Amino acid sequence: ISVGLIFGGKSAEHEVSLQSAKNIMDAIDHNKYEVTLIGIDKQGNWHLNTNSKYLINENNPKLIELNKTNQNIAVVPGRKSDQILNISDSGSLEQLDVIFPILHGTLGEDGSIQGMVRLTNIPYVGANVLGSAVCMDKDIAKKLLTGAGLKVANSLTFRRSDKEDISFQQVKEKLGIPFFIKPANQGSSVGVSKIHSDKEFTRGLEEAFSYDHKVLIEENVVGREIECAVLGNDSPSASLPGEILPQGDFYSYETKYIDENGAILDIPASLDDQQVNKIQETAIKAFKELECQGMGRVDFFLQENGELIINEVNTLPGFTKVSMYPKLWEASGLSYSGLIEKLIDLAIE
Ligand code: DAL
Ligand code: MG
Repeated sequence: ISVGLIFGGKSAEHEVSLQSAKNIMDAIDHNKYEVTLIGIDKQGNWHLNTNSKYLINENNPKLIELNKTNQNIAVVPGRKSDQILNISDSGSLEQLDVIFPILHGTLGEDGSIQGMVRLTNIPYVGANVLGSAVCMDKDIAKKLLTGAGLKVANSLTFRRSDKEDISFQQVKEKLGIPFFIKPANQGSSVGVSKIHSDKEFTRGLEEAFSYDHKVLIEENVVGREIECAVLGNDSPSASLPGEILPQGDFYSYETKYIDENGAILDIPASLDDQQVNKIQETAIKAFKELECQGMGRVDFFLQENGELIINEVNTLPGFTKVSMYPKLWEASGLSYSGLIEKLIDLAIE
């Protein structure tokens, strides 16, 4: 079976995607799958196989320092123009049986690449265009989840054009402090700030608006951070839940990927059977309500009173060494390579 692994991309999670791709390459059964590497650099140029490998190899596997979107990454040595894939190169794409886009964030997780691949008639791993798009936009996703009777954190949404109308005092009155400012369409906590003061507020807004035209200001939910992995199409299953114990102020980009002691992952989370069932049922419900397919990681806060608040659903969750999705399946009895096989089967079925 010939698999096209698309990775990298122009989003702020470029480096995370390189790590995800590397781990998938290490875990996939190369006797069964012939992998074509399709890397997208930060400028949006596409590279095939050998040239693509440079994208992975030039990234220090231990350190995923955040580069801002569109910043130059290393120039690929010896790149020939005929090895660059573009959409008019459909001949190269047609030889693939399935595409596994392991891109995170804008243009990769938001339905853009899914729409492009759909036009080639090649099946692809993960959510379709609609599911990808609604999960990427935290504002839209929250509206759909609330409409389905699921609980989300209280929040306010602002567009760049509203920027002058937002004051710290007003937000403080509505949501209390601290609160969070996040770009509506981002992952890996890029552009997210925890706000306690007017000064932090101004800085936090600037930061979030540097990534997106729309930002969410969200209350600080006090609770345990629980994640649950969902796998399947029409009848999905849920993994055992895991818990994140951030050692810093919150589960930021640094605590996720840079600081090795930044967060402890407790897998499976210590929860009683009733709590596990409720988390799994809610994760599957959210997955279905948001039109997910293939895979999704549902992130929760579990409050002391037992209330489950959905933080977000990720349609292309991280596959890095410190990422929950593959670990949760491993803990639930599905190996890393078995998981990849299952995801490819779900795309083709
Ligand atoms: N957005 C990152 C990759 C995650 O959810 O794991
Ligand atoms: Mg995310």
